[in-house]
Amino acid sequence: MPSTWDLAQLLRWQMEAGADEAILATPVDRFQAVAPVAAAAPPPPAVRPRAAPILSSPAAVNETAQHAAAQAKTLDELRAALDAFDGCALKQTATNLVFGDGNPAARIMFVGEAPGADEDRRGLPFVGVSGQLLDRMLGWIDLNRETFFITNMLFWRPPGNRQPTPGEVAACLPFVERMISLVDPELLVMVGGSSAKSLLGKSEGIKRLRGRWFTYENAFMARPIPATAIYHPAYLLRSPAEKRAAWQDLLAIREKLDGLGESTPEQ
Ligand code: URA
Repeated sequence: MPSTWDLAQLLRWQMEAGADEAILATPVDRFQAVAPVAAAAPPPPAVRPRAAPILSSPAAVNETAQHAAAQAKTLDELRAALDAFDGCALKQTATNLVFGDGNPAARIMFVGEAPGADEDRRGLPFVGVSGQLLDRMLGWIDLNRETFFITNMLFWRPPGNRQPTPGEVAACLPFVERMISLVDPELLVMVGGSSAKSLLGKSEGIKRLRGRWFTYENAFMARPIPATAIYHPAYLLRSPAEKRAAWQDLLAIREKLDGLGESTPEQ
């Protein structure tokens, strides 16, 4: 019989290997399972095998995603379209769809990378440790979830927080683009290098992309908007010396937003 310490080690090893999700609807006691049983018990009714994605080729996935995203005329319809979308295998291991949070009528929108464990559990973006830092940072420039909208490049958590594959990013991209057009912000901010590279179509890293202004547009949008990139809060937690640059970026965002407000005619 392994000791409690051995079991803790074993669990840690499994988590580091990425096996950190309970994917059955009911818990299974593996120690009971090895005891001799006279006849195999029928599986509990709640446990059903998850359906495999029916879309196999990247072209089919892209076409389906583009079509589903284009059909959505509201954020609620977009969420329903994502719920029905089977082109991203991450959906099979995730607990929740992490759609977006904040004010859908906000003037500014943030796009991060991918949900982590806390986001997966709660179905909301940026609610873990790095999300809390991001909220504090944005608070410094007088922004909060009533004045911004936030989402990610991926709507489901990659198991063990592994790097998303290009196929997973491509499958979600039409939905992200449609979401940006439906929120219709005046300003877009990419949080971290991978969202900046994907949305801007650039190969440079975040150190080169942050602190600059770009023009962002996608096929769903009626007009181009200014966009910039900031360091991901998870990176700032590991590299606090970069907080100075992050502060400058936040001030530039505040200034840009205020300037856009001045040039927008009163309704
Ligand atoms: N990191 C992200 O990029 N997004 C989240 O939602 C949480 C952490």
